[in-house]
Amino acid sequence: MFTFTFQLFSLLLLSTTATAQPYKATEIFLLNCGSSSSAITSGRRWDGDENSKFVPSNIATTSFSSQPSVQHPSVNLIPYATARIFNSFSFTYMFPVSQGPKFLRLYFYPATYSGLKANESFFSVSSNGFSLFSNFNAFLTTSFLSQSGHNVFSFVKEYIIYVKDTQILNVTFTPSPNSFAFINGIEIVSMPEKLYFKNIKIRFVGTHLGPVIDEYTSLENMYRLNVGGAQISGNGDTGMYRSWDSDESYLFHSLMMGMTPLSHIPITYTTNTPDYTAPKLIYQTQRSMGNHSDQYIRTWRLPVDSGFWYMLRLHFCNLIPQYTLKGQMIFKLFINNETAEDEADVFFWTPGTGYPVFKDYGVFMNDIDGHGSKRDLWLSMLPNDQSQEYRDAYLNGLEVFKLNMTGNLSSPNPNSSFTTPPEKPTSPIKLKKKTAPYVVIIGGVGGGIVWFSVLVLMVFWWRSGAVDKSWWGRTSTESNPTKLPSDRCRCFTLKQLKLATDEFNENFVIGNGGFGKVYKGYIDNAKTIVAIKRLNQSSSQGFS
Ligand SMILES: *[C@@H]1O[C@H](CO)[C@@H](O)[C@H](O)[C@H]1NC(C)=O
Ligand SMILES: *[C@@H]1O[C@H](CO)[C@@H](O)[C@H](O)[C@H]1NC(C)=O
Ligand SMILES: *[C@@H]1O[C@H](CO)[C@@H](O)[C@H](O)[C@H]1NC(C)=O
Ligand SMILES: *[C@@H]1O[C@H](CO)[C@@H](O)[C@H](O)[C@H]1NC(C)=O
Ligand SMILES: *[C@@H]1O[C@H](CO)[C@@H](O)[C@H](O)[C@H]1NC(C)=O
Ligand SMILES: *[C@@H]1O[C@H](CO)[C@@H](O)[C@H](O)[C@H]1NC(C)=O
Ligand SMILES: *[C@@H]1O[C@H](CO)[C@@H](O)[C@H](O)[C@H]1NC(C)=O
Repeated sequence: MFTFTFQLFSLLLLSTTATAQPYKATEIFLLNCGSSSSAITSGRRWDGDENSKFVPSNIATTSFSSQPSVQHPSVNLIPYATARIFNSFSFTYMFPVSQGPKFLRLYFYPATYSGLKANESFFSVSSNGFSLFSNFNAFLTTSFLSQSGHNVFSFVKEYIIYVKDTQILNVTFTPSPNSFAFINGIEIVSMPEKLYFKNIKIRFVGTHLGPVIDEYTSLENMYRLNVGGAQISGNGDTGMYRSWDSDESYLFHSLMMGMTPLSHIPITYTTNTPDYTAPKLIYQTQRSMGNHSDQYIRTWRLPVDSGFWYMLRLHFCNLIPQYTLKGQMIFKLFINNETAEDEADVFFWTPGTGYPVFKDYGVFMNDIDGHGSKRDLWLSMLPNDQSQEYRDAYLNGLEVFKLNMTGNLSSPNPNSSFTTPPEKPTSPIKLKKKTAPYVVIIGGVGGGIVWFSVLVLMVFWWRSGAVDKSWWGRTSTESNPTKLPSDRCRCFTLKQLKLATDEFNENFVIGNGGFGKVYKGYIDNAKTIVAIKRLNQSSSQGFS
């Protein structure tokens, strides 16, 4: 899974770090790779790997420490201010741990290290026989993550590896031929055996049978979302340092409403949903449809790698005071447009309001183009017609895991059909190849920018009075949008505007003017209604 921190929520984090942790990890390793000393950040101690007992004795000849040539201000110093570089040999970290499932988190900051450019780094990573990455390029991953609007410079990948009676967790880095590998940080945290492995009942969607999750299975976390709520950092988790992102970037339908305000209903954990399952904050916020949901289906769109099985864990908890009985509020769940639940009723699954519950679903993502490229995993919910009193549906949290296929979790780099590792042998230190692949990608991104500028989207505060009659009238001479006072201007990405208007859905059109259609849109979690004007390319009005 990818984790990136938004400063915005730091206040929230402060308030959650103090909460008692229902799970006390018996094993925690935090390795600051490329460093020779220990450091504390967010209350956690990271040890340098230089003199660590987890590295091979020939560390000095098979790797070296380096620092990024430039440290981006948004990137945390620990563990990202140093890296260990492997420029020709395989390198294995060995952690002695007890038997059982462990979180393995790998921290990457693709930058330039000792003149080695991250965009030219390709490598493989394996752990206890599972291939986690093959020919991986971390720079392409940050480019991919940055497409969603936020610039992402560093990221964390999270795996769950089941350690057997060998009681060793190995992590091996192998540079691709004529390339180099790097790693900034490694984290290992134990977990309750039953959290994801034992007593897991998976309902498969689209097939009758699917793989079991047992000690031969390894998982990769793709998403962990606090639906309808804010990001929760690792310190706010139930003791396993899982981080939970806001679901906002993954909502397909524009209608962002349904954010239940943080509820103060007490959360009561049960034997089926023990207190380590997810933090209370996950269950205290949700996204509902608000008893007027005939018009739309709530959908999340989650890009995943094709050719793998996925396990989705959906977290529910009733918070809505009007709902008190079975049969009042029944909803349907669809995964990839196939029925996962026809008559979901949280009151059938729980003793009542404030009791959390989770349900696990399995689905296979077909590799349609044969390249294992990214595909959207869809999750939708809508009211069941049999719902006796309320036409509603809600979700509190969502986790998505990729399951290994034949010992493999690795997928091609995003858009990797255009990328290949350097071909000509060069000295491991001097990688100076300038190959075409990246140009294609930059071209793809650039195309988006061109489209964006062609649209020339202008957003005004709907209620601020900036929207006057001439705004979509035929003669808009006075209201020339380029001359608006700058304090009324705010910049939006194309993605935000598409989200606000349901991909410029025709149902959202509220006006049609000389230079294009005007859409109603919802921003800031539907707290603000805006009018969005989309430039018609054939129009000669407006910008010239
Ligand atoms: C860990 O790696 C070492 C060295 O490569 C190897 O001898 C050992 O078998 C590995 N153990 C596991 C559990 O993969
Ligand atoms: C929910 O909607 C139904 C049908 O429109 C209506 O009868 C009912 O009163 C509504 N309930 C609430 C709590 O608004
Ligand atoms: C599911 O439905 C959406 C919207 O109708 C569509 O765009 C998408 O391709 C469908 N997905 C699958 C996997 O069929
Ligand atoms: C996952 O890997 C294990 C060990 O290699 C293997 O036994 C299992 O079949 C794999 N799972 C799938 C779904 O291929
Ligand atoms: C894992 O899968 C990827 C692509 O799906 C493939 O390129 C790679 O060779 C596989 N690795 C192993 C060890 O099977
Ligand atoms: C990598 O990025 C540098 C700029 O930081 C650029 O000069 C170089 O051409 C890039 N390499 C490739 C293979 O695109
Ligand atoms: C892949 O490239 C296409 C254009 O070639 C672009 O539209 C798309 O966003 C890219 N996707 C990723 C995952 O980089």
